[in-house]
Amino acid sequence: MISELIKIGIIASGSGSNAEAIMEACEEGGVKGKGKVVVLISNKKDAYCLKRAENHNIPAILIQSKDFKGTREDYDKLVVEALKKYDVQLVCLAGYMRLVSPYFLETFKDSVLNIHPALLPSFPGMHGYKDAIDYGVKISGCTVHFVDEKMDHGPIIVQKTLEVKFEDTEETLKERGLILEHEAFPEAVQLFCEDRLEIIGRKVKIKRKDK
Ligand code: GRF
Repeated sequence: MISELIKIGIIASGSGSNAEAIMEACEEGGVKGKGKVVVLISNKKDAYCLKRAENHNIPAILIQSKDFKGTREDYDKLVVEALKKYDVQLVCLAGYMRLVSPYFLETFKDSVLNIHPALLPSFPGMHGYKDAIDYGVKISGCTVHFVDEKMDHGPIIVQKTLEVKFEDTEETLKERGLILEHEAFPEAVQLFCEDRLEIIGRKVKIKRKDK
């Protein structure tokens, strides 16, 4: 029996290279047969992620946050409404530069993933790669985690590491980091779509694949 595909909604604010990695993985790679990206939403006008979605024939929706008059929850209600219209079951925050509200998280309970450009719990916040360089760490990387009400905080699903060289700048580290991010996010999405993730307190148990 062919099981139904998990419907994935992506929310992004910028270039969307992680969004595209997930789209491609669904189309041809590891998530094939498990998940399907059904919509991409951006809060930023002219964000390149919108174009990337269009290129993949995925509906691209702009819900602009700039000059939005209501509360964070009011804004999230619009986003949730759009995601529900597409029956989204898994939400991927792929370079989404806003915090989601408790309302959002209640709606998509244990079904919102985020990618962060550092090895959490080190260097949460907007500039993971830069903060790692400034601190002088020798190992950096990226983290995919479930989203909870605190920023860059929820249970960790996948982490990948890379060496920081003395000569590295934010740009060079980001360049190598993004390559890892593009592996890590589809991997986490695949595990979710295969129903292999179990949250136990702060920890995520990765269950064995059904034979
Ligand atoms: C990535 O480094 C991601 O970890 C961070 O924002 C960046 C987004 O890049 N949250 P892109 O838009 O996916 O290319």
